Amino acid sequence: MEELLKGSVVNSDPILNQVATYLIDAGGKRLRPTLAITVATGGTDESTRDDQLGAVAVELVHLGSLYHDDVMDEASMRRNVKSVNSRWGNLVAIVAGDYLLAKSAEIAADLGQHIASLLARTLGELCAGQISEVQTAYMVNRTQEQYFNAIAGKTAALMEASCRVGALTSRMPESEADAITEYGKYFGMAFQLRDDILDIIGTKEELGKEPGQDLVEGIYTLPVLLALNDIEVGHDLAALLGKPLSDSERQEARSLIMSSNALTKSTDVMRQWIDASVQALDGASSPVLCDLLERFSRSIEDDVTVSVESLCAT
Ligand code: IPE
Ligand code: IPE
Ligand code: MG
Ligand code: MG
Repeated sequence: MEELLKGSVVNSDPILNQVATYLIDAGGKRLRPTLAITVATGGTDESTRDDQLGAVAVELVHLGSLYHDDVMDEASMRRNVKSVNSRWGNLVAIVAGDYLLAKSAEIAADLGQHIASLLARTLGELCAGQISEVQTAYMVNRTQEQYFNAIAGKTAALMEASCRVGALTSRMPESEADAITEYGKYFGMAFQLRDDILDIIGTKEELGKEPGQDLVEGIYTLPVLLALNDIEVGHDLAALLGKPLSDSERQEARSLIMSSNALTKSTDVMRQWIDASVQALDGASSPVLCDLLERFSRSIEDDVTVSVESLCAT
C-alpha cells in the first residue's frame, strides 16, 4: 500500500511533486488505510491490489483534507514537520490539497462506481462538517449537538467510509458490511473526541502538531463545552473565550479546563463511543476480524485515560 500511495501522487512538475509527496513522507499513523485493509483481509496479509488501492484512495482523501484543514486552522505544524501552508503558503496548500483529492477520485473511479460514489459522498460530508464547525467558531453557547454533528461529518464519515471501502473491495456480504461500517462511524467519533482532548492536554512532541490550536481558532470542543458548564471554572472560562487569545490567555484557558472535571467527563464519553463501536461488531460474523477491530478501538483509549487520570490526580 505504501508504495502505491507514494506512486499515486508523483507529478512531472517538480514543485507539485515536492508539495504532494511532502506529508506522505513526513509519516502519519495511516489509520484509515489500516481500517480498509484490515476489513478487506480479515487480518491476514493477503491483500489484493484492489484492497490496497482502496486504502490509498481513503488516505488521499484524508491527506487532501489535512492540507485544507491546516489552511483553515492557520496551523504551523503537522506530522512533526512544518505544515504545507506555513512552508509554501495558503495558495499552494489549497491547490495541492485539491490535487490529492483528484488523485483519490481517479483511483476510486478505477475501482468502480460504488467506491467512487461513496468517496464523493464522504468528501461532501467532510466539507459540511468543516463548514458547520466554522459557523460556530468563537461561540461559547455552541451546543453539544452542534459539536457531535460537526465531528460526525468531518471525521467519523471518512473512518466509516474506510471500513466500507475494505468491505467493498473484498466483496463482503451486505449485512456484514453494514455492521463493520457502523463500527467505523463510532470509532471515528471516539477518535476525534480523543484528538480534541489531546489538543488541551498534549504536548507538541507527543502530537507532532501545536496543541491548544482549537482554543486559539475558537473551536470549542466537548471538553471546552463541559468546562464552560462547570460551576467552579465556567464563569472565568467564558470571560476568556469568545475571541482570539493571546499566548498567556491560551495557557490560562487550558489550565482552567484541566482543573475542572471536563476532561474526565470527556474521556468517559469517548469510552462510550468506543463501546458503541465494539457493540456494532455484534452484527459481524468473523471472530478474528471482530477481535482485531475491538483491539484497534481499545488501543486509542489507554494513553488518553492515563494522561487524564494523572492530570486529575495533581
Ligand atoms: C488528524 O488525523 C485529523 C483528525 C481527524 C483528528 P490523524 O490523527 O489520523 O492524522 P495522521 O494521519 O496520523 O497524521
Ligand atoms: C480534523 O479536525 C480535521 C479534518 C477532519 C480534516 P482537527 O482540526 O481537530 O484536526 P487536527 O487537530 O488539525 O489534526
Ligand atoms: Mg486542524
Ligand atoms: Mg485537532
